[in-house]
Amino acid sequence: MIVTIDGPAGAGKSSVSRRLADEIGFEFLDTGAMYRAIALKGLRAEVDWANVDLLVEYAKSATIDLSGRAVILDGEDVSHAIRSQQVTEVTRYAAGNIGVREELVRLQREIAAGKDIVTEGRDQGTLVFPQAECKIFLTASPEERARRRVGDLAARGESADFQVILQRQAKRDEEDMQREVGPLLKADDAVELMTDGMTEVEVLQKLVGIVQRYQ
Ligand code: C5P
Repeated sequence: MIVTIDGPAGAGKSSVSRRLADEIGFEFLDTGAMYRAIALKGLRAEVDWANVDLLVEYAKSATIDLSGRAVILDGEDVSHAIRSQQVTEVTRYAAGNIGVREELVRLQREIAAGKDIVTEGRDQGTLVFPQAECKIFLTASPEERARRRVGDLAARGESADFQVILQRQAKRDEEDMQREVGPLLKADDAVELMTDGMTEVEVLQKLVGIVQRYQ
């Protein structure tokens, strides 16, 4: 069974989706981490972001292992590095690259094949797994999402200004929704959950309830 969880940046998808997978005994796939990993690879190589083909080469040659709790890129644990603000800013070049998306979507389908899995991203219920049994669209207001992001960054020791984060988030939302391939979109058959004012435990309980309806 495949459970897809899509939604905008900062809706708290990653942590709650992983907890959901643990709770119901499913595997978990964080597809945003894959785009971040390719962006990190480009950043480290000081790639010219306009060089679209080179990024595709990176996506084809990279080994990304998400089978454990860590994100392993070419043998190195990059779980922490891929969450920096700098990587967050340049991930748009990986996410907006059609060839990179093709490669990562292929990998996502390969990873999920024959498994019980919770897969999280932007296009999981629409483009990658349109046949998924259970689809969830998780969202929250822009202000709530920006507040959470500021909190996450503070926990990493990175200071962030709320207004700046809010502005950048609006730009990322726009890019996510306007993207030609794999845009952020609620699937027609997805259940929408608005998480404003809810604790992570409350969101988790709701998600477990939704999945149980389809099991
Ligand atoms: O979810 P997260 O913030 O880690 O995703 C990083 C970036 O990767 C997002 O800004 C989004 O544009 C992109 N992404 C994507 N398709 C996915 C998952 C993430 O384009 N399935």
